[in-house]
Amino acid sequence: MPDRKAEHIQVVIKEDVNGHYRYWDDIELFHESLPEIDIDDISTEVELFGRKLAAPIVITGMTGGFSGATSINKNLAKAAATLGIGFGVGSERAAVINGVFPESYSVAKDYDVPLKLSNIGAPQLIEQKPGEKIIGVEEAIKAMELIGAHVLAVHLNFLQEVVQPEGERKAKGCLSKISTLAQQLPVVAKETGAGISIDTARRLKRAGVIGFDISGRGGTSFAAVEYYRAIKRGDKLRERLGRTLWDWGIPSPVSVIELAPLRVPVIASGGIRTGLDAARAISLGADAAGVAGAIISAATRGYDETLEELTRLVEELKAVMFLTGSRTIKDLRGVKKVIRGETRLWLE
Ligand SMILES: Cc1cc2nc3c(=O)[nH]c(=O)nc-3n(C[C@H](O)[C@H](O)[C@H](O)COP(=O)(O)O)c2cc1C
Repeated sequence: MPDRKAEHIQVVIKEDVNGHYRYWDDIELFHESLPEIDIDDISTEVELFGRKLAAPIVITGMTGGFSGATSINKNLAKAAATLGIGFGVGSERAAVINGVFPESYSVAKDYDVPLKLSNIGAPQLIEQKPGEKIIGVEEAIKAMELIGAHVLAVHLNFLQEVVQPEGERKAKGCLSKISTLAQQLPVVAKETGAGISIDTARRLKRAGVIGFDISGRGGTSFAAVEYYRAIKRGDKLRERLGRTLWDWGIPSPVSVIELAPLRVPVIASGGIRTGLDAARAISLGADAAGVAGAIISAATRGYDETLEELTRLVEELKAVMFLTGSRTIKDLRGVKKVIRGETRLWLE
């Protein structure tokens, strides 16, 4: 399993695993030719899950559980602390169930990150094979304590599970297990690239989750990642599945718009590549934008590279706030926009 996590990173860095259509480009913000604010007056501050962030950006969960993950999570956590943004580790199953490389996660504790998200997978909440260890409340608490987390992200990654050879394809009973966790812990439901619909979000909200990371279609496609892994292994069936489902899911902007009436915190991820994309997501009602694929390469190279890339993102967001006359994140939510292309068709 740790090898799989390392392999995922290599594939994401080396191959183009993005969805074939850029849904965020369908969101056009109106230019304000007379902003009547000074750029230095702009505040990107935001509150998310009761935590104050200097900018509405969250590095969403990617890694942990193998030796090379320690430096990646260290670079990400350090940069998140410097910029005052959120940071999540990847699935902590390796550490809480198998006791593998706990330091690759706990390294996050060394940095004063304003919002830290633990990460476990919904498939691991139920028995996939008879007698297999599952993640219950005790293990989830362990996962949170390992990194000093403020919230627990439970990822819903059934697209990936159905394509990858090691896939865990039992999903019956996940909602009730999520509900058990959510009665005792601050649980955020997180997709991993296929988006969350309003109906599913309602069921999860009733189960007690406090927010969502919609991680929609258009960014990193795990079907694509598994497609490349299948080619390497000569697994024709998985290669075919990965190619067929490459662009599966609910587009990220559509998911953000769908969830707006729920009035719960929403992190918009899936295809956020620039600060302009982040601004687009917030203009649609998201509380923050989440990035993974855009930052992983820098995170494998070093802290300076990671900080530089994230700083660019924040500066782009600020520039767009200036050009839309938005002094605060709240102002940005209300800016005039046009929704076109495939995204518009989805909404119709
Ligand atoms: C290398 C890599 C590993 C990932 N591992 C996890 C994981 O362990 N848990 C999780 O919830 N999401 C995981 N994700 C999904 C991301 O958090 C995110 O939802 C998805 O990649 C879409 O965002 P993006 O287009 O910015 O990459 C991973 C993503 C990448 C690129």
